[in-house]
Amino acid sequence: MNISKKMKAVVLTGHGGLDKLEYRVDYPTPEPDSNEVLIKVAACGLNNTDVNTRSGWYSKAVSDATTGDAYTTVDGNDPTWGGAPLTFPRIQGADVCGTVVVAGANADQSLIGKRVITDNWLRDWNDPDNKNSTGYFGSECNGGYAEYATIDYRNVGVVNSDLSDAELATFSCSYTTAEGMLSRANVKPGDSVLITGASGGVGSALLQLAKRRGATVVGLSAEHKHAELKKLGAHALISRDPASLKEALELAINKAAVSVVADVVGGPMFPQLIDCLERGGRYTCSGAIAGPIVDLDLRTLYLHDLTFTGSTVIPTNIFGDLIGYIEKKEIKPVLAATYPLMELAKAQQAFIDKQQCGNIVVTM
Ligand SMILES: NC(=O)c1ccc[n+]([C@@H]2O[C@H](COP(=O)([O-])OP(=O)(O)OC[C@H]3O[C@@H](n4cnc5c(N)ncnc54)[C@H](OP(=O)(O)O)[C@@H]3O)[C@@H](O)[C@H]2O)c1
Repeated sequence: MNISKKMKAVVLTGHGGLDKLEYRVDYPTPEPDSNEVLIKVAACGLNNTDVNTRSGWYSKAVSDATTGDAYTTVDGNDPTWGGAPLTFPRIQGADVCGTVVVAGANADQSLIGKRVITDNWLRDWNDPDNKNSTGYFGSECNGGYAEYATIDYRNVGVVNSDLSDAELATFSCSYTTAEGMLSRANVKPGDSVLITGASGGVGSALLQLAKRRGATVVGLSAEHKHAELKKLGAHALISRDPASLKEALELAINKAAVSVVADVVGGPMFPQLIDCLERGGRYTCSGAIAGPIVDLDLRTLYLHDLTFTGSTVIPTNIFGDLIGYIEKKEIKPVLAATYPLMELAKAQQAFIDKQQCGNIVVTM
């Protein structure tokens, strides 16, 4: 295959606003190392790590809700998910769907020509379960907002599916994150799971994956999105800011408490979320889009025998499991819109505005 030495890409040139995303037509095409493959990218899904990394929201100096705006308080020393500084220029984008066109000398040659999606957790493959030696595709190395991307061959999965490239690019980050949360909370048949941000990428994944596990699923979301979430199988839906969450639950599922809260929103709602857990209930969290600093009454935690789990780096089996769910059609993609690569900044603004259900994807 004839691969041009230069490619189109959107590069992040520093922390700040959307103007830090620059579209280039002459960016060097990457060459795979011996353990890597070169993917011709067809589509790449957006996610909040791109937004939070660009703006510097992960910095301990920031305590606001995610707005996508630049922060003046970020000093560049701790603005990434892992707490380390970022080097620029950086190509972001973790959720690639594309075709493997080159495989390095030690990589699996049978991948060439196959349509794959990427697992965003970069690992030390001599010690893959070691969470301390992980990186995020599109953060600690270049990702998929480009015509070509390189990644370790153990970070791609072949998907046999009639879904489009853009649909397949909605899954990886959101669904592996959601499945990681549900695994940490050991969600099983008989559980009732309350999901915040249920219309979002992770929220709509939580909804489908908790239902897949046999749980009763209640979503919190802006009301104009309820009809679409109902189609995904939510048993009940509650508006984003109910005056009393317990009363809203009572009306929705005939009981004022749930066994699990799966939260990606946090912020001012947090005390109400914790108050509606049953004795022995489990709270699992992967995000804090409404604000990372919350009020916790420790008496509720210990007197109600609650368990709290955080979830980011997922066990290695989850990516392969996810591909199985896609191939068996146990989960559906929720693709809200596609934009061409050169309009990534516009796509990210729409992603931040949150009028959509599910995810937004750029295509090449
Ligand atoms: N730890 C990880 O590995 C990981 C991976 C992926 C994502 N995350 C984090 O998880 C969070 C959600 O990610 P996502 O991709 O699902 O986001 P998303 O697609 O942007 O969806 C978030 C949803 O939360 C709701 N929401 C937004 N702002 C809110 C606010 N101020 N108060 C209440 N609800 C609000 C919105 O739903 P409604 O409009 O329907 O209310 C929105 O659709 C983010 O903080 C992200 O950084 C973490």
